[in-house]
Amino acid sequence: MSLNRELVQYITDIIFPKYEKYYSHGMIHINNVIENMMMLADYYGLDKDMAYTIASYHDIGLNVDRENHEKESAKILKSDKKLREFFTEPQIEIMAIAIEDHRGSRREKPHNIYGECISDSDRDFDVLTLAKRQLATTLKNYPDLETFDEHFNRCYEYICERINENGVFNLWTNNPVLIKRRDKFQKEYLDKDYTRGIYKKEWDKISSDGTKEKIITYYEDY
Ligand SMILES: [Fe+2]
Ligand SMILES: [Fe+2]
Repeated sequence: MSLNRELVQYITDIIFPKYEKYYSHGMIHINNVIENMMMLADYYGLDKDMAYTIASYHDIGLNVDRENHEKESAKILKSDKKLREFFTEPQIEIMAIAIEDHRGSRREKPHNIYGECISDSDRDFDVLTLAKRQLATTLKNYPDLETFDEHFNRCYEYICERINENGVFNLWTNNPVLIKRRDKFQKEYLDKDYTRGIYKKEWDKISSDGTKEKIITYYEDY
């Protein structure tokens, strides 16, 4: 079964433009998550339209309330009348619950398989991608940090904590493709000099091309 073209058109025209003011949760992130989610939907035999919609809406509520963006994103999906043309009420409920459950630091297992898949799809198992997103997040949330080293150490500690909680970065699905990607990522990431080098290069880039200023003053996500 392939994706409903009308649904994809609606999301492309109406939903994706809403990510324009997001940086770490902008369209590069959303497209990565969609790609992962479609891979998992295929693997687990899930409804592709639901998988695509969940991935497309999962971070949309970020500028409403950054602490509770999962809930806000779920609310936006639930109140979207157009989606009723493509889905039943129970399907909408399943998608909303999955989005609510996508927080990465969450300790309880998501309520349904879609929630497990969206949480796992949301991971950055790539050092450069993570560097871009994490530096932006610390720039927004920790305005008191000044130097590169202060920012880097904060980012690095956070990820190491997440890894050390379970000995590995938690995955709900334990999908073999993601496990392979995670293990490769972790090995690279824990080589601190290597990781610091990638973060430093990205830091220098965003400091000199105006992106850093734009992250602070223009983009709305945290
Ligand atoms: Fe999110
Ligand atoms: Fe996300």
